[in-house]
Amino acid sequence: MRPPAPLYHNRYIGPDVLSEPAVRLENVDLTLGSGAARVHVLRSVSLTVGSGETVGLVGPSGSGKTTLLMVVAGLERIDSGRIAIAGTDYAGLGEDELATFRGGNIGFVFQSFHLMQTMTALENVAVPLELAGVDAAFDRARDMLGRVGLGQRLSHYPAQMSGGEQQRVAIARALVVQPRLLIADEPTGNLDAATGGDIADLIFEAAAEQGTTLLLVTHDAALAGRCGHTVRMDSGRLVRHNGGAATAAALRSA
Ligand SMILES: Nc1ncnc2c1ncn2[C@@H]1O[C@H](COP(=O)(O)OP(=O)(O)O)[C@@H](O)[C@H]1O
Ligand SMILES: [Mg+2]
Repeated sequence: MRPPAPLYHNRYIGPDVLSEPAVRLENVDLTLGSGAARVHVLRSVSLTVGSGETVGLVGPSGSGKTTLLMVVAGLERIDSGRIAIAGTDYAGLGEDELATFRGGNIGFVFQSFHLMQTMTALENVAVPLELAGVDAAFDRARDMLGRVGLGQRLSHYPAQMSGGEQQRVAIARALVVQPRLLIADEPTGNLDAATGGDIADLIFEAAAEQGTTLLLVTHDAALAGRCGHTVRMDSGRLVRHNGGAATAAALRSA
């Protein structure tokens, strides 16, 4: 991919941003649901991710991985503990401020793409730029789609594209604001192995080029092994923290 053109928009950049870790969670607790459906989803979770690091989050279904991503993205408020992204403590932000912070700093890629079905590829990618009040949103969206190899699919609707193409649109949408942090929840889970490999390449390439911190949930040991670090969740707790390759070997032997 070509290096991104500079993008100017309202990020929260404080004086301490460069020295602060990209992600800092301290003793985060969260219980969801009510009555018999109450689940203690996150149990005293602490995690520090340095700026530009790539972290794979693995663990069994239901262990709390998606919830942890939601918390990091500020889409779910925590019961207790502390969460700071690039030095910005979420406790100090109201809902509007949190939404603005998220829009300028965090890109989110889902397993099932989550594109707007009534919008073209170009419109889907332009949305976060328009929300951020960026000039020339469509020019930048077009450029980003070209960089993910979809220059010929600008006017296609999601239903007219393959799964791999839809995920490329979703990645373009997540990256177009040049987020400080890219969060991906099983981004290759709905794709065949070859397409999933291409999508993984794209994510790692883009993260490296933009200096983006990457937090990635995956069941794929090979994908986890590409991350610099891997953390494992079990029943709401982080239970292990390894270098990526070591954890990939452990997953294969499990
Ligand atoms: N809104 C909710 N209300 C009650 N329980 C929930 C809610 N959201 C998630 N859970 C429960 O929290 C646990 C963790 O869910 P999730 O974070 O989606 O796990 P994972 O992504 O690891 O599969 C699951 O047992 C799930 O049923
Ligand atoms: Mg999940």
